[in-house]
Amino acid sequence: MSTFQPKRIYIAGHRGMVGSALVRSLQSDPDVELILQNRKNLDLCNQAAVADFFADKKPDCVIFAAAKVGGIHANQSYPAEFIYENLMMATSAIHAAYLNGVSRFLFLGSTCIYPRMAPQPMPESSLLSGPLESTNEAYALAKIAGLKMCEFYRRQYGVVCHSAMPTNLYGPGDNYHPDHSHVLPAMIRRFHEAKQANQSDVVIWGSGRPRREFLHVDDLSRALLHLVALEDPPNLVNVGTGTDVTIRELAELVAETVGFTGNISHDLSKPDGTPVKRTDISLIRSTGWEPTIGLVEGVEQTYRDFLDETKSNLLREV
Ligand SMILES: NC(=O)c1ccc[n+]([C@@H]2O[C@H](COP(=O)([O-])OP(=O)(O)OC[C@H]3O[C@@H](n4cnc5c(N)ncnc54)[C@H](OP(=O)(O)O)[C@@H]3O)[C@@H](O)[C@H]2O)c1
Repeated sequence: MSTFQPKRIYIAGHRGMVGSALVRSLQSDPDVELILQNRKNLDLCNQAAVADFFADKKPDCVIFAAAKVGGIHANQSYPAEFIYENLMMATSAIHAAYLNGVSRFLFLGSTCIYPRMAPQPMPESSLLSGPLESTNEAYALAKIAGLKMCEFYRRQYGVVCHSAMPTNLYGPGDNYHPDHSHVLPAMIRRFHEAKQANQSDVVIWGSGRPRREFLHVDDLSRALLHLVALEDPPNLVNVGTGTDVTIRELAELVAETVGFTGNISHDLSKPDGTPVKRTDISLIRSTGWEPTIGLVEGVEQTYRDFLDETKSNLLREV
């Protein structure tokens, strides 16, 4: 089976959690030239600057891991910024890539694109089959517009623009901001600080009953490079583990990993979000990819990374 082997790869958002995992995977590959540019020098919401950058660098492959990302609190507080920035970045980059003959463009979205009550596990075919989860609708609509733009550019112009929908991610380089972070990094920080302070109780948001799926970012990086190498990748494909845990079980796993032995209680005034969210990964499995990092091992690794990033003052809090 012939594969596509890009030489000049632009990773948009290379300093982010996904972007930095891709750089880790590719930086030692002698056949690949990485094209990287940080936000200070290239605001991806600035369409003219993006067009100039693509005309100058002419990458043959783009992995678009840049986005305005955040947890429930951030999505509910800044919906206008989430839809504007994510729409501007996606449309500017996809169009500039087309104009400059980029042969492969891989766009990243997330499983919040699927309807709130999608069948579980969520197949790619459930896209646009019902109302979205309201807490992150702005972000989800921008991602749906991006993946559909890829599909239509591929249909009209024949450029290989395709999209991957990762489930909840975790790992090195995650965002540990007390309010803006996702559930897993928030728990690692909260249980760690509680242990340090000999606190007897940690409160977690909601009932603890919602079920969630978590994929280690290094597994995702391997999946993205696998998809980019496919001669004819699917337009839209989920990337996950196909397994899930309750938020309560996750809290108990993090507490044990961190060494917190106190009580875990629930703040029922906080929203639970979607009751169950798990991806159907039969499509990506049929292309030959499998996740390899289990949740227990992944959380242990991530806690070690957290301690290292804290010690070296590199903990991301945005
Ligand atoms: N995290 C998850 O759980 C998750 C789950 C599913 C899907 N995803 C998807 O995976 C992708 C990457 O997410 P992530 O978790 O790696 O996010 P992240 O850690 O927040 O990284 C996002 C990156 O985008 C860059 N960026 C944001 N706005 C920009 C702008 N206007 N101009 C230039 N660069 C900009 C940021 O630059 P700075 O470094 O300068 O801030 C950062 O490097 C996103 O498409 C997201 O939807 C993430």
